[in-house]
Amino acid sequence: KTVNVAVVGATGAVGETMLKVLAERQFPIGKLHLLASERSAGEKLEYGARTIVVEDLATFDPTGIDIALFSAGGSVSKEYAPRFAAAGAVVIDNSSVFRGDADVPLVVSEVNPEALKHRPRGIVANPNCSTMQLMVALAPIHRAVGIERINIATYQSVSGTGRRALEELGRQTAALLNFQEVQPEVYPVQIAFNVIPQGGDFLENGYTSEEMKLVWETRKILGDDSILVNATVVRVPVFYGHSEAVHIETREKITAAQARALLEKAPGVEVVDEHVNGGYPTPVTHASGRDPAYVGRIREDISHPRGLDLWVVSDNIRKGAALNAVQLAELVIAER
Ligand code: A2P
Repeated sequence: KTVNVAVVGATGAVGETMLKVLAERQFPIGKLHLLASERSAGEKLEYGARTIVVEDLATFDPTGIDIALFSAGGSVSKEYAPRFAAAGAVVIDNSSVFRGDADVPLVVSEVNPEALKHRPRGIVANPNCSTMQLMVALAPIHRAVGIERINIATYQSVSGTGRRALEELGRQTAALLNFQEVQPEVYPVQIAFNVIPQGGDFLENGYTSEEMKLVWETRKILGDDSILVNATVVRVPVFYGHSEAVHIETREKITAAQARALLEKAPGVEVVDEHVNGGYPTPVTHASGRDPAYVGRIREDISHPRGLDLWVVSDNIRKGAALNAVQLAELVIAER
């Protein structure tokens, strides 16, 4: 049996990868509608052997859609996701607008798939990309010994900000290599050959919105409001793949060898941890274009008796967004 699918934001950085992942995984698609703003309505996109014309979301009738994958920003989700759900679709939403709602499950396919079943509004939220890969790597450790505190610094690629940010990094890099001046547009300061300690907007407590997503989403996904999370989010001039320097304090002591053994059998994780030059994952050498959350640099923290350090790298557009959304869609259709 096939299902009718709508991809909302199909022309964007995540939407493009959603199409790729749906095709790769041979998702049982009946009708496929690609939706975007009226700016790109009429454009043609490839899906496997099919060529599909992009339709304008504003005038689209969602009747008959079984699954809608949304990645067109928060305001679009807020307005249209409830309409698609009311028309009978299960909405899998990549924006942050519903993530905090108690009646919207926030699900990482390997970590808390059972949460998907309770979705009274017909909406399921896809976690933020940096939380996603962190959860894939940390859930097995949390289950084994309990995590008391997470201290994390991220090194996030520009694709997480969308297509315009990918273009900005390319354009600034080319301009600077040609001794031309650059004007920042998407980011507040130059991103090429630089690092920017700001993800999203500043909040009252001095943290940024991307940092606080790591706090709230971690607690919701692991179902434990006592976990302490302290995050610094940094944007780096990398196209695809987020990296994270993760420092955890566990409730019971876990050795590096035990953590490694747990992670080697954890779903969605690939351990790359040789103590030699290059024996660790990076966005370019491992993560970009691939599915797993790669974990390396696993070591016991010499400054804390129950501390453990890890380096986690994953493709933020794949597992961090499109892949998890499609995996959630697979779980939804498996219920039938
Ligand atoms: P469009 O190409 O028509 O602007 P990204 O995150 O890479 O910037 O992509 C955002 C996606 O969301 C694009 O597919 C974009 O379509 C879509 N989008 C943005 N605003 C709207 C809107 N008001 N209605 C429908 N789609 C939108």
